[in-house]
Amino acid sequence: MELYLDTANLAEVERFAKILPIQGVTTNPSIIAKEKRSILTALGELQQIIGKEKLLFAQVIAHTADDMVKEALYLREQIENLVVKVPVTAEGLIAIKALTAQGIPTLGTAVYGAGQGFLAALAGAKYIAPYVNRIDAQGGDGVGAVAELQTLLDLHKPDSMVLAASFRTPRQVLDCMLAGARSITVGCDVMELFITDPAVFAAIDKFDRDWHTAFGKNTF
Ligand code: E4P
Repeated sequence: MELYLDTANLAEVERFAKILPIQGVTTNPSIIAKEKRSILTALGELQQIIGKEKLLFAQVIAHTADDMVKEALYLREQIENLVVKVPVTAEGLIAIKALTAQGIPTLGTAVYGAGQGFLAALAGAKYIAPYVNRIDAQGGDGVGAVAELQTLLDLHKPDSMVLAASFRTPRQVLDCMLAGARSITVGCDVMELFITDPAVFAAIDKFDRDWHTAFGKNTF
């Protein structure tokens, strides 16, 4: 199971890289733009925190295959261990094929259906990112799309991985893992919800009170 943080915020990455066994950090143009730093500055700073052995994901912004490939090669020259995110359009599929032929790892992104994601896998994408919450928000079934895509990959393209993305709730994350997704990227707001259930803190308070009542101190 591979776990990624979906953020370019340095403070968030510093905090969660200490808490969680993350394999790396995923970004997209909106995530980078929010931090108001150039893409290379942002990626360089992120890599300093997580280490060069971890994966970093950054997305091309061009719309034609040729330009996507140029951007991908440029980013890969500057940043070690970069996985290039390519939107799964017709041009994106051409770019994924070309990059795969050059040995460059790609992630097919902006995936709204299992069929679309599967084409990216056939083109050579190592990772495929179905947008779970965005599919749900359209009235679709995000977890269902993940489950279908995982089944297709298991049957026909086991060397590609679902990297489930776009979450608003911990439940969506759990359901994707239960559906068999072997990698997942989660924003820090959703990650925080896994470890800040008020009932947990209430339980710990009760232990403290009981201990203090019995022994008059909160140490052994
Ligand atoms: C991943 O590839 C996407 O860029 C990202 O997870 C989208 O998440 P959002 O729907 O929360 O913006």
